[in-house]
Amino acid sequence: MALTIGIGADHAGKELKQLVVEMLKLSEHTVVDYGVAADCKTSVDYPDYAAAVAADVASGKLDAGILICGTGIGMQITANKYPGIRAAVAWDELSAKLAKEHNDANILCLGARTTNHMRATELVKIWLDTPFGGSRHKLRLDKIREVERKVSAIATKH
Ligand code: RB5
Repeated sequence: MALTIGIGADHAGKELKQLVVEMLKLSEHTVVDYGVAADCKTSVDYPDYAAAVAADVASGKLDAGILICGTGIGMQITANKYPGIRAAVAWDELSAKLAKEHNDANILCLGARTTNHMRATELVKIWLDTPFGGSRHKLRLDKIREVERKVSAIATKH
C-alpha cells in the first residue's frame, strides 16, 4: 500500500535523510520532507523535528514517519510523548523487522552516527515491507493505549 511518509532529521542526520528521501522517491510511497535542509550549516534541536513529524502522524495527516539524529534516541524519546505514536530505533535487520511485526511502529528512528548509511536505507525498506503481526501483539498495543489513557488522566488532574 502506498503511504505518505514524513521524514525529519537534525544536523547529525541530514545527509542520511537525503539518502532515504532519494530512495523513497523511487518507491510507490510519497515522502514529505520536514527538514532540516541538507545545506543547513548550523546545529539544530532534534525535538523540533521529532515533534513536527510525530504530531502529523498522531493526527493522521501522515501514515508514518522516519526520524534521524545522531543515535535516533532523542528523536524516539520526543516522538513517543505523542499519544498514539510508537516510535522505535532500529539498528539492524531484526530490530527493523520486529519494530513493525511486534510493535507496529509508526515512526522509525535511525542513528546516522551509529548505523552505516547504506544499511540504514535497507532498514527503512525492511520496516516498510514487514506487516504488523496482529493477534497477541495487538493485545499488547491495546495495553499501551490503556497506559496512555491512565497517564493522560493523571496529567489532567494536575
Ligand atoms: C546532536 O549532537 C545529537 O545529540 C543528536 O543528534 C542525537 O543523537 C540525540 O539523541
